[in-house]
Amino acid sequence: MKDKIKILNDKIAEAHLGGGKNRIAKQHANKKLTARERVEYLLDEGSFEEIGMLVTHRTTDFGMEKEQYYGDGVITGYGTINGRLVCVFAQDFTVFGGSLSETQAEKICKIMDMAVKMSVPMIGLNDSGGARIQEGVRSLGGYADIFYRNVQASGVIPQISAIMGPCAGGAVYSPAMTDFTMMVEDTSYMFVTGPNVVKTVTNETVTSEELGGASTHSTKSGVAHITSTNDVQCLDDLKRLLSYLPQSNKEKAADLPYQLDTELREQLEQIIPDNPNKPYDMHEVIKGVIDADSFFEIHKNYAENIIVGFARLGGKSIGIIANQPMVLAGCLDVNSSKKAARFTRFCDAFNIPLLVLVDVPGFLPGTDQEWNGIIIHGAKLLYALSEATVPRVTLITRKAYGGAYDVMNSKHIGADMNFAWPTAEIAVMGAKGASEIIFKKEINEAADHEAKLLEKEAEYANLFANPYTAAQRGFIDEVIHPQDTRRKLLKAFSMLETKEVVLPKRKHGNIPL
Ligand code: COA
Repeated sequence: MKDKIKILNDKIAEAHLGGGKNRIAKQHANKKLTARERVEYLLDEGSFEEIGMLVTHRTTDFGMEKEQYYGDGVITGYGTINGRLVCVFAQDFTVFGGSLSETQAEKICKIMDMAVKMSVPMIGLNDSGGARIQEGVRSLGGYADIFYRNVQASGVIPQISAIMGPCAGGAVYSPAMTDFTMMVEDTSYMFVTGPNVVKTVTNETVTSEELGGASTHSTKSGVAHITSTNDVQCLDDLKRLLSYLPQSNKEKAADLPYQLDTELREQLEQIIPDNPNKPYDMHEVIKGVIDADSFFEIHKNYAENIIVGFARLGGKSIGIIANQPMVLAGCLDVNSSKKAARFTRFCDAFNIPLLVLVDVPGFLPGTDQEWNGIIIHGAKLLYALSEATVPRVTLITRKAYGGAYDVMNSKHIGADMNFAWPTAEIAVMGAKGASEIIFKKEINEAADHEAKLLEKEAEYANLFANPYTAAQRGFIDEVIHPQDTRRKLLKAFSMLETKEVVLPKRKHGNIPL
């Protein structure tokens, strides 16, 4: 018996060494934790149970049968994060650069299937040189097996990908189909084709970092939802993100104890400037209504004219979508529409109520926007909000102009409670623009054009630059004092907790993609 136990212990010890001490040292020298260190840090202490530790690849081409490592470049298993069960895989760069073999794919698929069976979040820690080159098409088949599962699990369990090293070629499409992609600054990159291929095909000279680093994907492409400065911060961010999410689409996110910052609530009345063209930071409004320190922003540096993120209100998880007057005056454009639409669909799939804060002067004009399909992309947000059946509450803080008024969770597209501050202006457009169009003749004929324009502007503003015309129609349920906002929101979301919507039967809708 002793001998047999020794054999087992030796195998476990060998598996724990991954690709060996030298490669582990190289991983550390590159400012990266090993796969095993990452899993241990991510999960509650002592909770990780590994599955498939002794799996090895089956390749015999290129003398590969002589190079075998237990685990075959990926650690898979389950454990808890803050007491909640999750399934996890972590690619081990020390074994064949974490590359995906047929057997590595089998291990990943097995743990993904278990996550779905158990209705728990699936977390992937990616650090891989891509397809295992020695295995060819078997490796590609393995990717497709994973992609297929990503799609089947979409909207069923939360899927989170952390990119903590290379992620290139076909490997990028699994993270892209998960709900959130996180990236570590300076040590991770994602691209479909690397700098060398880019140089050959397009003659562009670009570094890996420029082409697909965390900064690029969190500002330019929007591929990364969250970036972190190092491995530890990335795993901390992942834990925090998870705290806002339910285990699956069958549940609601757990409530947490909370505190309120009363000082911020009192400042709400001072936020909106007297001059309607002066910007203010919508983050201040968010802070003033939610539980203290509870905002977790998604896509923070991408399409900053709209803010999206998770927060807690009375300890309950909510999703917030808010126009940001500080950037592009809060206009909706292609990227902000896509960003908010995707966030809406995630919240709706996972029973997270939505709070929409509105200060939108309209859609961003211009050839760039039109030629890049603002019509189709703006429609995504309109569609996503219209189809969302979670509790939906809107607060108009200032401008709600034109079609963007309709899009931003208006009553007409199914919002449950629509509030407005007395500073709200709900109209087809701003008073100046409107007057220039409808009173054009009168203004042109007047002796003093400027004075006439101001007079007509005031007339229009008086009639429409307020929330009362909309409130008279019932499009706004209540015009509220800013300092009452939190109380009103708490009551509205509490009332909506039992909301139920029965939709007509269909295979699926056809969201404009
Ligand atoms: N298949 C098999 N082995 C791979 C691999 C792959 N796709 N990618 C990396 N490896 C191995 C390397 O052979 C090396 O093995 P060793 O430790 O025995 O020397 C180890 O992983 C580390 O790779 P290395 O190139 O030394 O690391 P690096 O940090 O300098 O570079 C990459 C990392 C990912 C940029 C580089 O390995 C690379 O370009 N890999 C190929 C990427 C690719 O084209 N993939 C296929 C298309 S999806």
